[in-house]
Amino acid sequence: MRDQPVLSLRVAAAEAIAPTLRRVSLRAADGARLPPAAAGAHITLSLPASGHARPLKNAYTLVSADLEHGYTLIVRRTDPTRGGSQHIHEALAVGDVLEASVPHNLFALHSQAKKVLMIGGGIGITPLLAFIAALRARGTRFELHQICNSADLRVFAALIGAQPGEAVHLHAGRSTFDAAVVLGAQPLGTHVYSCGPAALMDAIAAQAAALGWPASHVHREDFGAAGGEPFTLTIGTSGARITVAADQTMLEALEAAGIDAGSLCRGGACGVCALPVRAGELEHRDHYLSADERQSGAVVMPCVSRARGDSLVLDI
Ligand code: FES
Repeated sequence: MRDQPVLSLRVAAAEAIAPTLRRVSLRAADGARLPPAAAGAHITLSLPASGHARPLKNAYTLVSADLEHGYTLIVRRTDPTRGGSQHIHEALAVGDVLEASVPHNLFALHSQAKKVLMIGGGIGITPLLAFIAALRARGTRFELHQICNSADLRVFAALIGAQPGEAVHLHAGRSTFDAAVVLGAQPLGTHVYSCGPAALMDAIAAQAAALGWPASHVHREDFGAAGGEPFTLTIGTSGARITVAADQTMLEALEAAGIDAGSLCRGGACGVCALPVRAGELEHRDHYLSADERQSGAVVMPCVSRARGDSLVLDI
């Protein structure tokens, strides 16, 4: 987060709402007003993590942001656990103070949408919870399809709190959700928002394109998925070598080595973390670069993309 304003947030409340879900409420450490955040916004938290000399930075969607309750997050404990979610589930306590970015919104609701179709997978429900509150307040028609494990059905239903007449559908697994049927039944002017596993969002985007939806009406929330083969990153200007572990992103490895590449979405969507590449083959996982830019191999989004091979040289 080069040169970006930083917030100091105090943990006001933290509770387990399911064995793998923890809800955390954050307020300004000095009691001041927090910057406002519209539905779909996220913050990046700096979290201490065992085995790491520097804090890890993780992006979390705000489930709610209001003057009364501050910012609220719901964090899934990942398996295998990575530093950020492990700290939030095992160590974070009321009164702790964390450093965070100001809220950014790359997944905002379109003000002209006649209807909003929301499709969530697993913990991808978090921005949709903020959307539901905003859409109820606006009086905009919406339809929600949330796909999850059967173990999460009850807790997700409680979080959504469907009101009479609302089109809320909870699916225990993908088998009862048919993207072609759901997208094909929407009136003109509908915007679709998906958040969840990349495969689900790719399927929604492909189906929407096949049905002729305008690209401007199809929105997705990408948060980076770490993981892949380990490789060695070489800093071209200094020759310094950094190992990117199997469960780590290139951006995290750079930050752990004290190199701040800058970031915003940490999910391959905004382009802020772009770095020039001097040598090496790339596995692009972002949704920002054009086909030509990918083909050139000159730029990489280190928050999600990796080396296709055992080494990569950055031109920094
Ligand atoms: S931080 Fe947004 S693309 Fe990497």
